[in-house]
Amino acid sequence: MDFVHGLFILCITLILINHNLKNVEGRSHFHKEKKVTSPIPSESSNSSPSVPSDPYPNDPRDSSSDCVFDVRYFRAVGDGLADDTPAFKKAWKEACAVESGTILVPENYTFKITSTIFSGPCKPGLVFQVDGVLIAPDGPDSWPEADSRNQWLVFYKLDQMSLNGTGTIEGNGDQWWDLPCKPHRGPDGKTLSGPCGSPAMIRFFMSSNLMVSGLQIQNSPQFHMKFDGCQGVMIDRLSISAPKLSPNTDGIHVENSQDVGIYNSLISNGDDCISIGPGTSNVEIAGVTCGPSHGISIGSLGVHNSQACVSNLTVRDTVIRESDNGLRIKTWQGGMGSVSNLKFENIQMENVGNCILIDQYYCLTKECLNQTSAVHVNDVSYKNIKGTYDVRTAPIHFACSDTVACTNITLSEVELLPFEGELLDDPFCWNAYGVQETLTIPPIGCLREGDPEAVGDLSTYQCSN
Ligand SMILES: *[C@@H]1O[C@H](CO)[C@@H](O)[C@H](O)[C@H]1NC(C)=O
Ligand SMILES: *[C@@H]1O[C@H](CO)[C@@H](O)[C@H](O)[C@H]1NC(C)=O
Ligand SMILES: *[C@@H]1O[C@H](CO)[C@@H](O)[C@H](O)[C@H]1NC(C)=O
Ligand SMILES: *[C@@H]1O[C@H](CO)[C@@H](O)[C@H](O)[C@H]1NC(C)=O
Ligand SMILES: *[C@@H]1O[C@H](CO)[C@@H](O)[C@H](O)[C@H]1NC(C)=O
Repeated sequence: MDFVHGLFILCITLILINHNLKNVEGRSHFHKEKKVTSPIPSESSNSSPSVPSDPYPNDPRDSSSDCVFDVRYFRAVGDGLADDTPAFKKAWKEACAVESGTILVPENYTFKITSTIFSGPCKPGLVFQVDGVLIAPDGPDSWPEADSRNQWLVFYKLDQMSLNGTGTIEGNGDQWWDLPCKPHRGPDGKTLSGPCGSPAMIRFFMSSNLMVSGLQIQNSPQFHMKFDGCQGVMIDRLSISAPKLSPNTDGIHVENSQDVGIYNSLISNGDDCISIGPGTSNVEIAGVTCGPSHGISIGSLGVHNSQACVSNLTVRDTVIRESDNGLRIKTWQGGMGSVSNLKFENIQMENVGNCILIDQYYCLTKECLNQTSAVHVNDVSYKNIKGTYDVRTAPIHFACSDTVACTNITLSEVELLPFEGELLDDPFCWNAYGVQETLTIPPIGCLREGDPEAVGDLSTYQCSN
């Protein structure tokens, strides 16, 4: 990807100095002696203006280049107790203003910060490097403001930014998981987050050319990572984990985004390992190990009769284990648009429920009525999908809409054996058209050949690019 090269542009020290001359906090970054002899004017904070004689006995700059902004230098304490949010905001502001600035979260320290929006635009090449631990406040009582509860760390309007390092981002989710309610649907069909809707941990919004790598991200109150309205996302070598029974702790959720790669990562949690929402295209997922989890999901799509478009997605060389679902496409009754050009290739299943699933009757309440419109599922191939399934579920299940058939489903080298016991359910198909290129195990005799007679008004399935 071309944007990667952009990230290596050297930090231009001149810009940095120039910028910092206008900024008292920043100037002290370069001239420590001034900082020590004169109190820091504190326009933006109401903390005590007095400065210890040498606040930084081990100057964090010593081993760093000028474009590295160590949060300790901005008075982050890093004891896991103090609120280090103001220091992070200052470090962000400084690093944002220089090309290839790095916000350094040093190792061997634990920094607690509250819900924060790190917004751009910033100079390109910004790196948020977490080598230590970044920790969320403790549970709902420490998140007093209702409007900060949707998410913890938000990265907004950025281009060419990396979030990486060797450290851990800890969501401290256990008190949230114990709350009695989860996001739920109100009487008018709208989703209410309710008084105990839990925050997502890390959200990238309206940004481009992002790289997220190397980190351990764990115990989110809700979704671990969300990408919405992003172009060019590269995720590599992440480890995401939360307990198997933690509610709604999806690993990586992507929607309204294009050109997304998720590689070489381990995800275990209490919900979808990766979920792909509407408006997403050009996605590649490879080298991922999921489980325990709820598998890799496309959807849910078409809720409240909305249009949903997902196209050109490949999942390959991936392991799914101990999961409620394997490869799932879920759409609601009603809706418009299409899911097309999906390829699932070289997937190892280990004791997975519903290994291969298309569910066009997705419904949370069990009270959804059948409707005549639907999101069209087309051009989906499953190749070399092998391993074992949980016998309480059907290994292959294609429940396509009554009025809008699934078309051009291709199966080859699909071999799924019961993890233990005997096969209970044969593969199931409803209104599913396609071919098996090689005999599958278990044998699937229910795919229909050729094309369905009518798919209704074709224009409702068109997705513009
Ligand atoms: C962090 O702690 C480890 C173990 O005590 C030590 O080896 C390492 O040098 C420390 N790192 C820094 C940057 O101080
Ligand atoms: C973080 O990303 C930057 C920019 O891509 C890169 O130069 C740096 O080596 C990365 N650091 C780690 C620890 O991966
Ligand atoms: C499909 O997505 C891949 C990235 O996963 C991209 O390289 C390719 O160009 C896309 N194909 C089309 C037809 O857009
Ligand atoms: C919806 O249609 C499916 C497939 O024809 C059928 O099995 C199911 O009972 C219907 N559901 C309702 C609520 O009518
Ligand atoms: C069926 O889907 C495959 C990809 O899975 C695609 O290569 C092929 O062109 C499609 N066939 C038709 C008739 O559209």
